[in-house]
Amino acid sequence: MLLKGKKGIISGALDENSIAWKVAEKCKENGANFTLTNAPIALRMGKINDLAKKCSSEIIPADITSIKDIDNLYEESTKALGGKIDFILHSVGMSPNVRKNKEYGDLNYDWFFKTLDVSAISFHKVMQIAEKNNILNKWSSVLGLSYIAAQRTFPFYSDMAEAKSLLESITRSYGYRLGKLSKTRVNTISQSPTITTAGSGIEGFEAFYNYAEKMSPLGNATAEECANYCVFLFSDLSKKITMQNLFHDGGFSNTGISEEIIDQFS
Ligand SMILES: NC(=O)c1ccc[n+]([C@@H]2O[C@H](COP(=O)([O-])OP(=O)(O)OC[C@H]3O[C@@H](n4cnc5c(N)ncnc54)[C@H](O)[C@@H]3O)[C@@H](O)[C@H]2O)c1
Repeated sequence: MLLKGKKGIISGALDENSIAWKVAEKCKENGANFTLTNAPIALRMGKINDLAKKCSSEIIPADITSIKDIDNLYEESTKALGGKIDFILHSVGMSPNVRKNKEYGDLNYDWFFKTLDVSAISFHKVMQIAEKNNILNKWSSVLGLSYIAAQRTFPFYSDMAEAKSLLESITRSYGYRLGKLSKTRVNTISQSPTITTAGSGIEGFEAFYNYAEKMSPLGNATAEECANYCVFLFSDLSKKITMQNLFHDGGFSNTGISEEIIDQFS
């Protein structure tokens, strides 16, 4: 029960494959109380109701790019949970260019801005409004999800690579600020390719998933394993870990080549 008595907000659970869905289940198992949030349009799918029931959680709709919606999310969450917040999961990513198969050399710039707003600047908004509304407890933990395309080029990842670089930069900058203000830690987990709606929306995802599996000495990290890592990062066991991008990828990021890949090319 690593999170006994802790209060949180979990965004991004769309269906049972979502990383956020698994995080919610693990947080519940570990004794936390939390609200669930997603974009109003995603809530229409209705699946999240099953999760809410299972976790005894309230669902509060919020478009994560809207300051008004985040304001409301915080007001309703602190009311529902009966106090200030100990952890926030930002598990949101979306690129209209990727969705509509726009090539990197032919990006629609309005959509590019949308990618950055939804997938990265929203992380700043989540923290800025938390600071302004003073909703974070001392020693709270804020977590986002990233991908190694922030450091290295993966052509199919398109403008999401820029979004993840920005997300990781905001993590450092706001991590400093919130550390000073409320001893809050801010980190991103750089997760292995994972079969979810957002993941499989990327062109050539399956081939890349299999490649990463063969490149990683421990194999790809699953959504469930990611959820366990999130629980640790929300718990008091990780109090001094902050401003980090933490690779959770079975060793992929430090592997030059694996024997399996060599065999395939011999
Ligand atoms: N799946 C992977 O391979 C992988 C790898 C590394 C990192 N990630 C990251 O993990 C996070 C979660 O993605 P996932 O793989 O669980 O996929 P997912 O599709 O299940 O989750 C993405 C969520 O973002 C939500 N969302 C989109 N626009 C929104 C908006 N305007 N306001 C509020 N919510 C919005 C969606 O409704 C959805 O619930 C993302 O940041 C993603 O980039 C995923």
